[in-house]
Amino acid sequence: KKAVGLVGWRGMVGSVLMQRMRDENDFALFEPVFFSTSNAGGAAPSWADGAGPLQDAYDIDALKKLPIILTAQGGDYTSAVYTKLRDAGWDGLWIDAASTLRMDDDSIIVLDPINRDVIDQGLKNGIKQFIGGNCTVSCMLMGLGGLFKNNLVEWMTSMTYQAASGGGAQHMRELLTQFGEINAAVKPLLDDPASAILEIDRQVLAKQKADDLDHQHFGVPLGGNLIPWIDSDLGNGMSREEWKGGVETNKVLGHTAENYVPIDGLCVRIGAMRSHSQALTIKLRQDLPLDEINDIIAQGSQWAKVIPNERERTMHELTPVAVTGTLDIPVGRMRKLAMGGDYLSAFTVGDQLLWGAAEPLRRMLRIALG
Ligand code: HSE
Repeated sequence: KKAVGLVGWRGMVGSVLMQRMRDENDFALFEPVFFSTSNAGGAAPSWADGAGPLQDAYDIDALKKLPIILTAQGGDYTSAVYTKLRDAGWDGLWIDAASTLRMDDDSIIVLDPINRDVIDQGLKNGIKQFIGGNCTVSCMLMGLGGLFKNNLVEWMTSMTYQAASGGGAQHMRELLTQFGEINAAVKPLLDDPASAILEIDRQVLAKQKADDLDHQHFGVPLGGNLIPWIDSDLGNGMSREEWKGGVETNKVLGHTAENYVPIDGLCVRIGAMRSHSQALTIKLRQDLPLDEINDIIAQGSQWAKVIPNERERTMHELTPVAVTGTLDIPVGRMRKLAMGGDYLSAFTVGDQLLWGAAEPLRRMLRIALG
């Protein structure tokens, strides 16, 4: 069995990844070598039977011995180690959740239910960098892949509703702390049915604006609020997250300048926990009937689930709460828009830590192991 180096297995994405790999019995397929950036010499996780002590994740000689390395340690680690490792002559496969290498010409963005052909061609051509995509992009493609595979999308806008987890574990904690602090600020008034709602609202706003509200990670309150900017400012009116939507989707699909599909929109942080949602406006290349579109989407991947465009089904099946912890990617709210028969609306939701991060990586590892 091949040895596989695992780095960043203890963080939030890493923990979800390890759980999924255990659930799917992936560990039967390789010898895991666990690395740590902070605890070299410590014990491997107790569930990993027979794995040796933790190795130093910055030890190039130790990393160099492995034919495959899978990391969810983050972009700083990739930047610190990757070039050194290659310079030391390492020739193995690098599977990474971080965005650092994603847009490299020598990288493939992995999402095999959608781009297995691109991955296989890359392996054949000697590509060694297989990088997980941006969470919003991967979740969108897992839902709408059928439309792209059938070359039906002329252009698309994506307006997102992204969960706190996209920022990291600390951001999720901060959101919950804010909810609690805001609730506590008006608890006596809430408990009194005779209190005035406008007074409650005034005190909530005062708490949201108060310096003592926990907000160091998001910078502003997210509880009872939203933040229409995610990631850095590219200086052209676009956020980095918005830029990724277009370039990464096209890269996943293996598109070049000739068949590039414009995809753009606004990315917004909302107070959901770990599932990202997005509202899509799709300009179709043809005016297809809705039932055909439903079939195409349902066949796009085995995880895409068409939700009938009805109130009750939508409320119960097309929300972050409904999706979190599952691999389902529901796609609903589909109808032809007032602009014409080739304008389609859709809404989709995906667990940002599963299809958005861990799942494409563990599946790529399986492909790499043959
Ligand atoms: N950038 C994403 C977000 C998460 O902030 O929601 C990682 O893809």
